[in-house]
Amino acid sequence: MKRSAWLIFAILLASRLAFSETGAEGWLRYSEQHLPEKWKADSLPSLLYVPGTSEILKSAGLELTTAVPGLQGSSKFPDSNAVVLLRAEETRNTFPELQVLRSIPNDGYWLKTVERRGSKYWLIVGGSDRGVLYGVFSFLARMAEEKDVSELNDMENPAAPIRWASEWDNLDGSIERGYAGRSIFFDNGSVRSDLSRVREYARLLASIGINGCAINNVNADPRVLSTDFLPQLVRVADAFRPWGVKLALSVDLSSPVAVGGLKTFDPLDPQVAAWWEKTVDQIYARIPDFAGFVVKADSEGRSGPSQYHRTAADAANVIARALKPHGGVLMYRAFVYNHHLDWRDLKADRAKAAYDYFHHLDGKFEDNVVLQIKYGPIDFQVREPASSLFGAMQHTNEAIELQVTQEYTGQQRHLVFLIPMWKEMLDFDMHVEGVTPVKKIVSGRIWHRPLSGFNAVVNVGLDENWLGHPLAMANLYGYGRLAWNPDLTSEQIAAEWTQLTFGNDPLVVATISRMLLSSWHIYENYTGPLGAGTLTDITGPHYGPGIESAERNGWGQWFRADAHGVGMDRTIATGTGYIGQYSPAVQQLYEPLTNCPDHLLLFMHHVPYRYMLHRNKSVIQYIYDSHYEGAEQAAWLVRQWESLRGHIDQQRYAEVLKRQEYQAGHAIVWRDAVVNWFNRMSGIPDDLGRVGHHPNRIEAEDMQLSGYAPVDVMPWETASGGKAIECTGQSSCTASFKFDRAAGTYDIAVQYFDLNNGVSHYKLFVDDREVSAWAADDHLPSNKMNGHTSTRFTIAGVELKPGDVVKIEGVPNGGEPAPLDYVEITPEGTTTSGITPAIDVNPAATPH
Ligand code: GCU
Repeated sequence: MKRSAWLIFAILLASRLAFSETGAEGWLRYSEQHLPEKWKADSLPSLLYVPGTSEILKSAGLELTTAVPGLQGSSKFPDSNAVVLLRAEETRNTFPELQVLRSIPNDGYWLKTVERRGSKYWLIVGGSDRGVLYGVFSFLARMAEEKDVSELNDMENPAAPIRWASEWDNLDGSIERGYAGRSIFFDNGSVRSDLSRVREYARLLASIGINGCAINNVNADPRVLSTDFLPQLVRVADAFRPWGVKLALSVDLSSPVAVGGLKTFDPLDPQVAAWWEKTVDQIYARIPDFAGFVVKADSEGRSGPSQYHRTAADAANVIARALKPHGGVLMYRAFVYNHHLDWRDLKADRAKAAYDYFHHLDGKFEDNVVLQIKYGPIDFQVREPASSLFGAMQHTNEAIELQVTQEYTGQQRHLVFLIPMWKEMLDFDMHVEGVTPVKKIVSGRIWHRPLSGFNAVVNVGLDENWLGHPLAMANLYGYGRLAWNPDLTSEQIAAEWTQLTFGNDPLVVATISRMLLSSWHIYENYTGPLGAGTLTDITGPHYGPGIESAERNGWGQWFRADAHGVGMDRTIATGTGYIGQYSPAVQQLYEPLTNCPDHLLLFMHHVPYRYMLHRNKSVIQYIYDSHYEGAEQAAWLVRQWESLRGHIDQQRYAEVLKRQEYQAGHAIVWRDAVVNWFNRMSGIPDDLGRVGHHPNRIEAEDMQLSGYAPVDVMPWETASGGKAIECTGQSSCTASFKFDRAAGTYDIAVQYFDLNNGVSHYKLFVDDREVSAWAADDHLPSNKMNGHTSTRFTIAGVELKPGDVVKIEGVPNGGEPAPLDYVEITPEGTTTSGITPAIDVNPAATPH
């Protein structure tokens, strides 16, 4: 490669900031790549030699030549500087001087520079073709991060063999818990004809070491196993294959009946076994590298072995036996619980279900069955302990199930970098036999399991940037990196991802890392306190606040708040006994109130509101304070992002800013809902006098209304004062009030409800002068006024003087009656102070 070509490339890049980026490239932005300065121009390779011819090696070669302009393929072994891609066994012939080559497992790789007869070779050696590909991505990532690649000798092996992604896509193209558009795989009952996004996705997955992908909803449509669907699946497998990603499917246990025409799906019935065998054989005949199945059974209304009084092991094994001759894997989900629990029964506990259901089956599973266990015993909450089941299955393969899609953590409208939470789970020591952290259990290392690993629900969609929020991709990236090496730190992952996604400007890397690393605690602060769970609408879309929805029903996400106290008593002594499912050392951490860490207190114990936390604050005051703090911190995220103006491209800057501003507004909705609810429930005032006192707020129902009428909002805590106003039966309505404070410059925040069944328009006037106009055109997950739809629009820097009439005009549209909740007027720049959060990335390390 000529030095000048590299320089021109670098100069071109410098001018790229002004351009827009869609985020479609994720972290593989070679067009933005700067060359490592340390990589001396005179040692740059100009040739690429790839002796193998497999599809995967072709991808690897193409990836390199795309990323490194000027690098050219050579058909024979080059005698000048070159990059050489090899499988481990080929290295012995081609580079016999590399005597001591540690064995490289399948997906592992070795990056090694070698000098021979005046030429220098960058060897990328893989245990398999896939290993070579991973080595190439690692090499390119190092370049993009401006690391020195002139001398390399680095061997990397993945922590576990199973590193899968799961997509909860339905055949009609919708995605269960997907927040970034429709399915890249399916549309209208079939696999899409254009699979270009699937190929791009497979490339992204490969670049972080993901080697399998289950493409359909765990609430599986049995049609995926019908014979006439198979050719469509073959097309997806073909799209995945060049990137070493194996196709997997979620299957319904009743498939032998639903698509096989049998009268039973009893796992012990020989006809059923024969059906699975035949079906699996047919798949492998067309997709020889098929990865296997994911099964959700006896859960949330899905069919299961209990219908025949059989066990989960019976169900898993009949399918596993069919897969085994082909090397296929059966992921059996431990997410099994009764969702008709009796709320009045103080011993009833959903958290206990997985352990109760599975632990006595330990050792009864075929060795190609992997028990896939959600990180916590409930369901992807903002805070849970590590599932007790991890420590109970020494003779069973285990995988941890994580969730990239932010179902309970803000649905990609709120910034929540989940890596610190996952790290906390993975690092948690189950104390089963000596030191047994979850990461070592799910890597199969502790109990020497043949299979083990990771599966995360990702739910990318057709949105150009894959996950909706541009910063949410950090979770997908981080998932792959942790599945490869769970010992990486959150800080490392945040910095790597930021560098690859936004470049190496130190201000950008430091700022985005700071935002990412603090975001989980910020979200936790204004949503679910002290382990109570995400206090969202659990029978609805799991998004905004909906506090009571968790109580008094069979779903078991209870936090049992009453007039006196709050929390689930899961102790052995007086509670449900969940804590008894852990090893004695972990029991000792959670059972005595005095030991239990604050952040899990309400998960493990029921305490009075005035119970003093380790941090020397009462539970109720902590609930108030953390929510006020969380909302301030959400505003701080906006300030942080604003400090990057001009340092990143316009498009992504604007997209993130919009979301952060929205989040800051919604954090106030969350804050008010939670603190008002607990204030009413406990009857205990806020020591700092904030709760229920909003001196700058004018309730819409108290304004001068023309056409608008007051309405009760349900649940009450999701609207200020429990009420809003709506404009029905009119083409437009107005609400106005007289400003009676000192003259000055103010920010005016209008709280309204943006339903998904219409686009209302609003205008704000001061003394009949139009100051601002906006539309309620978002697609929030509800058509009602509630915590999902409550939205804040802020008009900054408005001059006001006593006697000014502030008027809002609302024009309803569709089913959306231009609803308004309140207006808040604060001196300019003081809506929130935007306080800096303490960054506490791993509170597990410091339990108190
Ligand atoms: C959650 C989620 C469901 C999903 C289930 C599962 O409960 O809300 O949509 O089906 O998890 O993991 O199976």
